[in-house]
Amino acid sequence: MKNKILSILLSSDGYVSGQSLAEQLGVSRQAIWKGMNSLKENGYEISSTPNKGYRLVSAPGFLNAEAVKSHLNTKLIGREMIVLDSVGSTNDYLKELGNNGCREGVVVAAREQTKGKGRLGRVWQTKRDENISFSLLLRPRTAPGGVAAVTPLAGLAICKALRDTTGLDCKIKWPNDIIVGKKKLVGILTEMTAEFDAVEYIIIGIGVNVDQAVFPEEIEYKATSILLETGRHYDKNRLLAKFLDRLEGELTRNDLRLSQTALREYSDLCATIGRNITFTRGTRRISGMAVGVAENGELKVMLSDGTVCSVYSGEVTVQGIY
Ligand code: BTN
Repeated sequence: MKNKILSILLSSDGYVSGQSLAEQLGVSRQAIWKGMNSLKENGYEISSTPNKGYRLVSAPGFLNAEAVKSHLNTKLIGREMIVLDSVGSTNDYLKELGNNGCREGVVVAAREQTKGKGRLGRVWQTKRDENISFSLLLRPRTAPGGVAAVTPLAGLAICKALRDTTGLDCKIKWPNDIIVGKKKLVGILTEMTAEFDAVEYIIIGIGVNVDQAVFPEEIEYKATSILLETGRHYDKNRLLAKFLDRLEGELTRNDLRLSQTALREYSDLCATIGRNITFTRGTRRISGMAVGVAENGELKVMLSDGTVCSVYSGEVTVQGIY
């Protein structure tokens, strides 16, 4: 009931009378009153004025599935959405759903992760309601080799969405961190479950630092948030809807490939290109200059002898960033 009331309140500019709500939903005034209380308990601010009715003053500052959906323009991504109060990792939660055959496009977000995962086995730790943590499941009909572009496309989508919404000069640190200046704003962890010749599903897990005012000392030099960069609190529900819109746009427009347009846009926004980098190959650390990104998402690096090699995964340290 509360979701139906909410969608009427969200779609109307001003007050809606209790009588009108009850008639539209075919329930009693008492049921409407109960629904309103439940919405207030969930963080919605609703003003009620005699003879006028109810008006939505503000949505909760924390993530909420109905609020995200009310801003969403996608056809598939996020149409089925779960927002959890607290979870170990949204990637792991969605993996369970994937194993049980959930549909493509399902999104799981959480106000808090207690075992958030980063790349290369690292921990991704954030406090409750400070960041947007979400995961998205796709079922591309292809062999594992055909999905290499998914992570760069996701990075491109999030980078563009953040530039549009916040005006920040966000860049991509290859392969998939979004940075502002020299500090990280977004991390992406893509995981895949596949057979030898067919992908079962991919999970794209994204963590965006939104409201952190301070970071722990050990990462302070390399982490930042939208709040620290803009001095503003952004509505997380609107932001998440924007990310999902952009993700669907980039993934479908480019048919999951790094098309020429996507490659150009990615390269223009890639802070790694043109810098000296160091990467790991086996046990060796190798240095060179990043000169471009290939169609399969690999980083092209020119070594000191002039040869160009491809770097496809692992740890890259970019001089002057982190
Ligand atoms: C990284 O930069 O190392 C990747 C960080 C990815 C964090 C996100 S938050 C949502 C999703 N769930 C996880 O456990 N990890 C990803």
